[in-house]
Amino acid sequence: MLRHLRSLQDFTKEELNRFIERAIELKHERQVGVQHHQLVGKTVGLIFEKPSTRTRVSFEVATYGLGGQVIFLSSKDTQLARSEPLKDMARVMDRYVDAMVVRTFGQEVVDELAHYSSVPVINALTNLHHPCQILSDMMTVIEKKGPIENLKIAWVGDGNNVANSWIQAAEFFGFELILACPEGYDPHPDILHKGRSNASKPIVLVRSPQQAVAEADVINVDVWTSMGQEGQEDTRLAAFRAFQVNSALLAKAPASAIVMHCLPAHRGEEITEKVLESKQCVAFDQAENKMHMHKAILELLIAT
Ligand code: CP
Ligand code: NVA
Repeated sequence: MLRHLRSLQDFTKEELNRFIERAIELKHERQVGVQHHQLVGKTVGLIFEKPSTRTRVSFEVATYGLGGQVIFLSSKDTQLARSEPLKDMARVMDRYVDAMVVRTFGQEVVDELAHYSSVPVINALTNLHHPCQILSDMMTVIEKKGPIENLKIAWVGDGNNVANSWIQAAEFFGFELILACPEGYDPHPDILHKGRSNASKPIVLVRSPQQAVAEADVINVDVWTSMGQEGQEDTRLAAFRAFQVNSALLAKAPASAIVMHCLPAHRGEEITEKVLESKQCVAFDQAENKMHMHKAILELLIAT
């Protein structure tokens, strides 16, 4: 059956759990040298209109690791740059590839490609969502802290794409989520409203980073200026200055809290060098887990 991963809402909690369980198994299998062949004869098309290190490389390595092949297309490589309609792109690419992994600006681009594609379309980040990131981040949380539904997860900073996907995760998984965002930088209102209406635990929005981290098991931080917001750096630097994750903020949190950053990090802005390099920070484990999660996603969506 054709399934797209446009946002976490495309799957049930049980299916999302299956991604996480399978990624943990695949991580173990890699450690003990199991060879995989699930994607032999399959080709994955990566269509990236924004830069990427982790997501691109981990999807490529994941595909090769399962025996498949990859074609990478940046924005300047396709006729999309010359305004070829998305519905035509979708119906051409789906004749060639077995899945399209798409990183772009508007969520509507992913939605339209998915609407016309006969192969799975996987959202590798839009301005609105970063679902693959949150799947692998939940895997990291579970590895480090145990069952996620028992935890209190904090978000400090911009109510951006990654924050929106955390809200969707909280809606399904029933962990407590407390977001500290400066006024004017809240998560998407519809996503927040829906999350709050459906979640079994509170999803709280506050203005104080200290309040957000006070009882947190997990502290999440991301850049203050996301891709596509270039030119807003000065305004954002001023708005977010009090939201830096630094030693003084961590002193307000339980000593057992872990710090997560999806990377890339801007040391001295949203996080200090000291915190990023500290034992509490699991950013590089998060980065590794993207590869295991992307294997699980590809296997469950396109392996025969
Ligand atoms: N975390 C993440 O998506 O990183 P990249 O932008 O390098 O892919
Ligand atoms: N919020 C960031 C995430 C980068 C992985 C961005 O969209 O640029």
